[in-house]
Amino acid sequence: MTTSSSSLLIFVLISFVLVAYAANFNQDIAVTWGDGRGKILENGQLLTLTLDKFSGSGFQSKNEYLFGKIDMNIKLVPGNSAGTVTTYYLRSQGTAWDEIDFEFLGNLSGDPYTVHTNVYCGGKGDREQQFRLWFDPTKDFHTYSVLWNPRRIIFSVDGTPIREFKNLESIGVPFPKSQPMRVYSSLWNADDWATRGGLIKTDWSKAPFTASYRNYKADACVWSSGKSSCSSSSGSRNPWWSQELDVGSQQRLRWVQKNYMIYNYCTDTKRFPQGLPKECTVR
Ligand SMILES: *[C@@H]1O[C@H](CO)[C@@H](O)[C@H](O)[C@H]1NC(C)=O
Repeated sequence: MTTSSSSLLIFVLISFVLVAYAANFNQDIAVTWGDGRGKILENGQLLTLTLDKFSGSGFQSKNEYLFGKIDMNIKLVPGNSAGTVTTYYLRSQGTAWDEIDFEFLGNLSGDPYTVHTNVYCGGKGDREQQFRLWFDPTKDFHTYSVLWNPRRIIFSVDGTPIREFKNLESIGVPFPKSQPMRVYSSLWNADDWATRGGLIKTDWSKAPFTASYRNYKADACVWSSGKSSCSSSSGSRNPWWSQELDVGSQQRLRWVQKNYMIYNYCTDTKRFPQGLPKECTVR
C-alpha cells in the first residue's frame, strides 16, 4: 500500500469514529409528548420544542443512567418568553424519586431569564438555587451540563460550574446514588407562577415559542436490566467518575455565586426557622 492510500485509510477510519461519536437525537432521544410540537431535524443534529396556546412539548433520553456527565447545547426561547418554562433535568422513577434540575424561566424581551436549580433525593427537594446568566441565552447555543458521580453533583454552564452539591451522607444528608435517571426536557406554559411570581402572563400573540437543542452528549453509565455499564471502552475509569473542582473551577464557582446567584435556600433563614438544612452548615 502506498503512503497516500494508507493515510487515506486512516483518515476514513478516523471519520467513522467521529461520526459514530457525534450526538444524534434520533438515536438517543424520544420526543414523548406535544403531538408534533417536538421535532428532530437535520438528520438528528437539531431538536426543537415548541409551545402554543394548546400544548407544550417534551422529550426524554432513551437510556437511563447511573452516574455520568451529560451535556446539552440549548438555545432558549427568544423575544418575549414571559410565562414560559424550559426544563432540562435528570429524574428517576417512582414516588421516592431522585432528580437533578435545571429550569429556565422566561421573561419579557430584554429582561433576564432566571435559571432555577434543585436537587431531589427520595422525593424531597427544597434545595433551590437560582441564577442569572452572564450572557443572553436566546442568541446562541450554550452548553448546560450535569456532572453526577458518587461524590458530587456539579451544574455547569459553558464549562463554568454554577453549583456543587456534595455527597454529605457522612453527616446524614441524602445523596442520589442508587436510582438510575433519564434525561428529560420540556417547554410549557407556567404563567401562573413563572415570571415575577405569575404577575406577567404569556403573550400568545407571540406563539409558537421555540427552544432548540444540539449536541447531546451522555458520557455516562447506561443502566439496563439491573446493571450499569460505562461508556469508556478502555477499561480505565471515566475522568468524570472522580472529577472534582480544581482551584480554578472553585474560583469560577465563587465568581458565579457572588455575582449571579439570586436565590440560595442555604441563606433563607426565614424559610427554615428550625435551622438551615445540614448541608448548608458545612463548607
Ligand atoms: C424578569 O425580569 C425582572 C426585571 O429585571 C426580574 O425582576 C425577574 O426576576 C426576571 N425573571 C423572572 C423569571 O421573572
